[in-house]
Amino acid sequence: MNTEGTTMLTRTVIEPFRIKSVEPIRWTTRAQREKFLRAAHYNLFLVPAKDVLIDLLTDSGTGAMSTRQWAAVMMGDESYAGSRSFDHFRASIQDIFGYQHVIPTHQGRAAERILFSVMCKKGDVVPNNTHFDTTRANIEFVGAEAVDIPIAEARQPATQHPFKGNLDVIALEELIARVGRERIPLVMLTVTNNSGGGQPVSMANARAVGAVCRKHGIPLYFDACRFAENAYFIKVREEDYASRTPKQIAQEMFALGDGCTMSAKKDGMANIGGFLCTNDAVLAGQEKELLILTEGYPTYGGLAGRDLEAIAVGVQESLEEDYLKYRIASTAYLGNHISERGVPIVQPPGGHAIYLDARAFLPQIPPDEFPGAALAAELYLEGGIRSVEIGSLMFGAAAQMELVRLAIPRRVYTQSHIDYVIEVILAVWANREQIHGMRLTFEAPFLRHFTAHLEPATCPTPALP
Ligand SMILES: Cc1ncc(COP(=O)(O)O)c(C=O)c1O
Repeated sequence: MNTEGTTMLTRTVIEPFRIKSVEPIRWTTRAQREKFLRAAHYNLFLVPAKDVLIDLLTDSGTGAMSTRQWAAVMMGDESYAGSRSFDHFRASIQDIFGYQHVIPTHQGRAAERILFSVMCKKGDVVPNNTHFDTTRANIEFVGAEAVDIPIAEARQPATQHPFKGNLDVIALEELIARVGRERIPLVMLTVTNNSGGGQPVSMANARAVGAVCRKHGIPLYFDACRFAENAYFIKVREEDYASRTPKQIAQEMFALGDGCTMSAKKDGMANIGGFLCTNDAVLAGQEKELLILTEGYPTYGGLAGRDLEAIAVGVQESLEEDYLKYRIASTAYLGNHISERGVPIVQPPGGHAIYLDARAFLPQIPPDEFPGAALAAELYLEGGIRSVEIGSLMFGAAAQMELVRLAIPRRVYTQSHIDYVIEVILAVWANREQIHGMRLTFEAPFLRHFTAHLEPATCPTPALP
């Protein structure tokens, strides 16, 4: 279907855009990549982007902006206070999210830091389906505990479930009974659940979580980074939503909560930016005070007026049905082609990424030798593909699974790029028994995966020299 609802006769889901500006990518040899990886201490975050062929490290801030967004950039009002661009930004966000107070931030983690600094203290507990790494780190930074309570199916990569991002509502009730309502300043719900495999949360689950929160007088906040993809999954998978637009679905979901954090680098379709929303005027006042301290005045919050304009357009574009149909289909294309050939992935394919199940891919490597990091290194060596480990290196003892995420930047790569990625993964799969684990040689106290140094855990082999 196109946006007018006209039935198309073809089955191929095409990229719903033409390419107007191109950026070359660079081939390297395997010998060069071996050198680059050694120099980067086997940590792909430390590999220069110019030495990467297909960059699937993240879908965050890596998307291509539209002609409408670039046009809006030119309309940016760079006034320090009361910028017209802030009015556009706030109006567009309120149209979708519906919250009274909209606070711009330079990206999602700044919104998290401000939210948790204001709402949490030492000894508090914050439940979530699964906290993203920056969310967990910002909660722990103020001395509170981040607790993941996804449904049981979320912990089983091969299990099929239409809404594997759902939060376990019974576990939430039990947690509240065990630690006491007064120690839980807020509940978070991450849509889609990035660390849990890019899996969506159903409207029924969000409603049930909202009802528990209301019963106990606990505010519900959404981590809304991929809200548009989540809305599309609800449209195609949840009963009674087929005839609703993604925007209507998103509006209905956000009405169940009290606020949100957002990285506009994802479904904001922008290269930078974020925001924090709340319906609580007192909290908003405290949050703006902190914002002024580190981010900037509340009508720009660390962003340029042009960034605010790009986000104002981007959040609306992310909800366009043709775009979402292509986005979800192209991610599934990658996942289905490799899983058909036996490669273990988190099932079903997520919205923004495919997650390889490194534990099943490399059963010979124990968690303390980081099977995900070893697999990510091998994908780079084999084909210059950059991915990211989401497992014991990222989360330490809190890791639920050993995953390698292949995140697809928005509107950037075409089907032939993805066909190449499939070929490389299948080559690594064929050679999987030769892959060895990794040993940590340096770690920082917070978010260690960004800067960690690793080395092959066993004697150098042809696979990991
Ligand atoms: C679910 C989730 N929450 C929060 C963040 C943090 O956003 P940012 O990278 O803009 O700080 C991310 C980023 O990937 C995310 O995926």
